[in-house]
Amino acid sequence: MAEKPTIFILNGPNLNLLGLREPDIYGHETLDDIADSLEDRALELNVAVDIRQSNHEGHLIDWLQEAQAVKAKAVILNAAAYTHTSVAIYDAIRAISVPVIEVHLSNPHAREFFRHKSYVGEAALGTISGFGAKSYLLALDAAAKL
Ligand code: DQA
Repeated sequence: MAEKPTIFILNGPNLNLLGLREPDIYGHETLDDIADSLEDRALELNVAVDIRQSNHEGHLIDWLQEAQAVKAKAVILNAAAYTHTSVAIYDAIRAISVPVIEVHLSNPHAREFFRHKSYVGEAALGTISGFGAKSYLLALDAAAKL
C-alpha cells in the first residue's frame, strides 16, 4: 500500500504552554488536545501528521529543512513570536519547495502593532489565523487538498 503523504505541523515558542497561557487569547485547549483533533482529522483526510513543538528557533529551521528532505506534502507552521522577528525562518521557508501554511490561534493583525509584521507570512503560501484551535484544522484541510 502506498504511504500516506505526510504533513509537518510545527509549533514555536511558548505553545507548549497552551491551555495555561493567556487563555482569554489562546483558549483552554492544550497542544496535546489540538494534536488529538489533528490526528483524528488526518485519519479522515487520509494523510499522516508529524506534530512538533520547540522553544528554539534553530529547531524550527532544522525541521523545515527536514520537511524538504523527506518530501513532506506541506508544512503547517505556527512560529509564534518568531513569526514577527525571524529572518532565518523566512529564509528557510524560501529555501524549500514544500508549501508552508502559516497558522495562528489569535489574529495578530487585531493585536499589538509589533505583531502586524509577519516574516513567515511573507514567505508562506497562505495564512489562517484568528479561529483558535480551529485554525489548525482549517490549515490541515487546506494542506491535504494541495
Ligand atoms: C501566535 C501569535 C503570536 O503573535 C504570538 O507570539 C504567539 C502565538 C498565535 O498562535 O496566535 O505566541 O502565533
